[in-house]
Amino acid sequence: MKLADNKATLSFSNGKPAIELPVYSGNIGPDVIDIRKLYGQTGMFTYDPGFLSTAATQSAITYIDGDKGELLYRGYPIEQLAVNCDFLETCYLLLKGNLPNATEKKDFTELVTHHTMVNEQMQFFLRGFRRDAHPMAILTGLIGALSAFYHDSTDINNPEHREISAIRLIAKLPTLVAMAYKYGIGQPYMYPQNDLSYSGNFLRMMFATPCEDYKVNPVIEKALDRIFILHADHEQNASTSTVRLCGSSGTNPFAAIAAGVACLWGPAHGGANEAALNMLYDIQKQGGVAKIGEFIKQVKDKNSSVKLMGFGHRVYKNYDPRAKLMQQTCNEVLTELGLEKDPLFALAKELEKIALEDDYFVSRKLYPNVDFYSGIVQRAIGIPVNLFTGIFALARTVGWIAQLNEMIGDPEYKIGRPRQLYTGSERRDVPHISKR
Ligand code: SDX
Repeated sequence: MKLADNKATLSFSNGKPAIELPVYSGNIGPDVIDIRKLYGQTGMFTYDPGFLSTAATQSAITYIDGDKGELLYRGYPIEQLAVNCDFLETCYLLLKGNLPNATEKKDFTELVTHHTMVNEQMQFFLRGFRRDAHPMAILTGLIGALSAFYHDSTDINNPEHREISAIRLIAKLPTLVAMAYKYGIGQPYMYPQNDLSYSGNFLRMMFATPCEDYKVNPVIEKALDRIFILHADHEQNASTSTVRLCGSSGTNPFAAIAAGVACLWGPAHGGANEAALNMLYDIQKQGGVAKIGEFIKQVKDKNSSVKLMGFGHRVYKNYDPRAKLMQQTCNEVLTELGLEKDPLFALAKELEKIALEDDYFVSRKLYPNVDFYSGIVQRAIGIPVNLFTGIFALARTVGWIAQLNEMIGDPEYKIGRPRQLYTGSERRDVPHISKR
């Protein structure tokens, strides 16, 4: 970051002396006012619950322009990566800063492929869960538990440990997500198959059984790979900020990623794809397209807590570029599977059309986000609704790790410790219980 050619002056109407605050510029996007010395100079904090106007860090990984609806991974537009690269190339890019050449891609793919198995002891963790446990509960447990198997690589301040932990997490998430799925349906786990692609291997671990050969459908394999690319990273979103804050204490990478999984689970964040599909199911059950008007009325009614799940975004005040790519992927998969007439897809497109013509959504700049169509395409592939967020976590793991490693690699990083505006009781003495 570089010092901008202007400064911010903070003056107070009560006569407190004004102070000057440096302004810094990045390469693209908004400048920042450096308030690190504010408390020392004024005895005051800034106040920004939800961090609507706060840059918690500098980063070179992902850039989002919410007004333009632009998303860049290390400067490359998501639209180009989704068409010209596969997920492992995108992982390499996010982790190392540049796209791999053919040799680098081959070596990286080999490395990840040969870390896809998990320790045989991992399967015994699943047995502690009921078969109907939510996969995100299982994954939060399994990923945190991974740290118990890799004492040789949990020193987050050791670059080699960070490197091998990144490979292990990227490689093992598909295996763990597939195990959570198989456990829930009572089928045996399928071991990774090293001659398959990352996404092809995941499809086989999910849908194959030991009873017969499994043929990966190349259209579905490519669609799933693109879904992983679209979810790989997204700047300082809630779960990435969770991973950064958790990792800032120096805890091991597996524990920090487990914290990210737990945060992503929420319906306001990664849980929205599950919630969006359930919302479409509900509208379908109530009468489908004919009932959209009634549903939109509920959404606009402030007394109802009904939201149009898969719509709106803290940063995008335009169409989420990932939603467009997800809709195209939806089309491809449904056509491949002869489901072009899928009523839920038709319902989703009609719901989007009506919402985008309604002033409530237009005035609030609410557009479809990455979660609006992702559920429809995942359901068509055969992924159960309660596993959608697990797929999101699988893909976002590389973004979380890249962001965590960027933070730990910054010599200036400190443990994150926000302050507060205290509005509780002033000092008082404890009365004897007889006097309470
Ligand atoms: C992800 O941060 C990221 O980058 C996240 C993510 C990533 O890749 O990591 O992009 C992934 O989490 C996408 C978002 C998935 N969540 C959902 O689809 C859930 C539904 N969306 C909302 O909960 C909401 O839009 C948020 C949480 C996404 C954003 O909320 P904000 O920025 O805090 O905005 P807000 O809640 O203050 O809303 C502003 C107005 C409010 O109305 P008013 O009080 O001004 O009258 O818009 C309304 C909100 O009620 N609103 C919605 C709405 N989203 C916002 N109204 C109906 N339906 C919605 N979906």
